[in-house]
Amino acid sequence: MNPAEPDMTASELYRRLLTYVKPYWLVFAAAILSMAIFAATETALAALLKELLDGGFVEQDPDIIKWLPLGLIGIFLVRGVASFITGYGLGWIARNVIKNLREEMFSKLISLPASFYDASTSGELMSKLLYDVEQVANAATDAILTLIRDTLTIIGLLIWMVYLSGFLSLIILTTVPVIGYVVYKISDRFRAISKNIQDSMGDVGHISSEIIEGHREVKTFGSQTYESLRFDKVNQKNRRQRMKKIATEAISQPAIQLIAVLGFAGVIYLATLPEMLAEITVGGFTSFFAAMFMILTPLKRLTKVNSKLQAGIAASQSVFTLLDQRPEPDSGTKAIAQANGEIEYHNVNFSYDDDKGAVLNNISFHVKPGQTIAFVGHSGSGKTTLVSLLARFYQINSGSISIDGVDINELKLSNLRQHLSLVNQQVVLFNDTVANNIAYGLQEHVSNERIIDAAKAAHAWDFIEQLPHGLATQVGQNGVLLSGGQRQRIAIARALLRDAPILVLDEATASLDTQAERHIQAALETLMQQRTTLVIAHRLSTIEKADQIIVMHQGDIIETGTHAELIAKGEHYAQLYRLQFQEK
Ligand SMILES: Nc1ncnc2c1ncn2[C@@H]1O[C@H](COP(=O)(O)OP(=O)(O)OP(=O)(O)O)[C@@H](O)[C@H]1O
Ligand SMILES: [Mg+2]
Repeated sequence: MNPAEPDMTASELYRRLLTYVKPYWLVFAAAILSMAIFAATETALAALLKELLDGGFVEQDPDIIKWLPLGLIGIFLVRGVASFITGYGLGWIARNVIKNLREEMFSKLISLPASFYDASTSGELMSKLLYDVEQVANAATDAILTLIRDTLTIIGLLIWMVYLSGFLSLIILTTVPVIGYVVYKISDRFRAISKNIQDSMGDVGHISSEIIEGHREVKTFGSQTYESLRFDKVNQKNRRQRMKKIATEAISQPAIQLIAVLGFAGVIYLATLPEMLAEITVGGFTSFFAAMFMILTPLKRLTKVNSKLQAGIAASQSVFTLLDQRPEPDSGTKAIAQANGEIEYHNVNFSYDDDKGAVLNNISFHVKPGQTIAFVGHSGSGKTTLVSLLARFYQINSGSISIDGVDINELKLSNLRQHLSLVNQQVVLFNDTVANNIAYGLQEHVSNERIIDAAKAAHAWDFIEQLPHGLATQVGQNGVLLSGGQRQRIAIARALLRDAPILVLDEATASLDTQAERHIQAALETLMQQRTTLVIAHRLSTIEKADQIIVMHQGDIIETGTHAELIAKGEHYAQLYRLQFQEK
């Protein structure tokens, strides 16, 4: 991620969030209007109380006595309708905003470069997509509800109080700025805590997803206790942050109420002085007092709104940081219709990180169309890195890579990758049927016959046929229901069906039993026919048949030649060959 990126300010975040609400402004306006109506009914209730006491009980006016119950029903009817429109309208907007944000996050995730994924964990990203987005919308909805409806309620009631007695209202009004100040102070703290809560949610997510994905390792290494301890730590941290938030909330409420009640006490004291008693009616006084209490609930919510709002701001920060990630650079404009498969690396230098050392130094080689070039070398010498550069998973530091004489940076990414088939060291299958896994990524509909042909060529048909539902068998998450060798053959079938002119093959290091090995060997040979192949080879037969062998050592090419040439030379390759293949 971009740790250097400065935090967006709160107002920037609000404005940005508002752009998501903008398309729904009509519903938003209706919701605000109904909030205002709702607030007005509160003041109407306080006013009704005055009429009830002064008109009904003191003067016993028959008209008022007749209309009061109807008035009460009317107020609650209006209130009910207003409340429904507000709740439904805001909920509708919130769900739409959540859906749109998720959509945008998802398409962003798809477009991000490999380096982004190297630096983030899936748990963190999942927590953003699942938890933070909800948090943004819920916090915003609650906050809007409170800020508009409760603020209007408070204003309405205050006006009513001033109308009843300006002098008594003055005392209430002096307490409001004090409350405002306290609230302001608290909000900063809430924002900081909310961010910590999110981070710790991400930690909880990533540790859980690790043990879920690595449950076999956890079992075989007996690391249950270690993982539990690791989880306890982040779980505990999450609880602690939550408690900080709860404590701040719990303290802020009584503190604000205490300030308010000081005002109230002053009002009661002054209102019961003989001079005041003469000035205000029984109904007026009761109504004033009722209004004072009616203000308390929205005021309380108003103080709580900060915790919501700050949580929302922190969450939207997290969401927007993801949305602001730079996608894979794709400024190329050229396209090759049908590649011949000529590949040239020229003085390629590469490092994953500027501050870390170079991983590849001055790599140059040339592959003619249809040739096979094999890379060998110790683990960590840079073989996987070297071939992954061809698909532009990472940007090279200097030098150039070209296909059919065109620099790959000048090609559109989609066009470049269309000419490549990748079979990785670790096969990735999707939680879908065998057929869909083989036909993965193909735009047009693929007939079953073609899938079966590919499966046959990949020596996969024998076992697929015996699966309970054949091609329609679900393979489970990442193909867990298949064996390692079966997964590899599905990946080979996938590459065959894709039929790209260039094949990048990172052979699995894990050795299989001889029969499976023979099957895969045969499948690979079919796959490599009439294709330019860059193969990271661990199988002797692949290496022996290669047109050219490149021996890598710590990011350098130290030898090139055919098998026979290099054996005759008797240096690095010959030594590697003795080590890897002859002792077996
Ligand atoms: N995504 C990455 N981010 C940072 N460094 C990486 C990354 N992938 C590999 N490296 C480093 O780059 C170097 C070359 O790794 P690479 O995977 O290319 O080796 P390899 O020759 O394919 O090894 P193996 O035979 O074990 O597959 C190693 O030192 C490795 O630590
Ligand atoms: Mg590798």
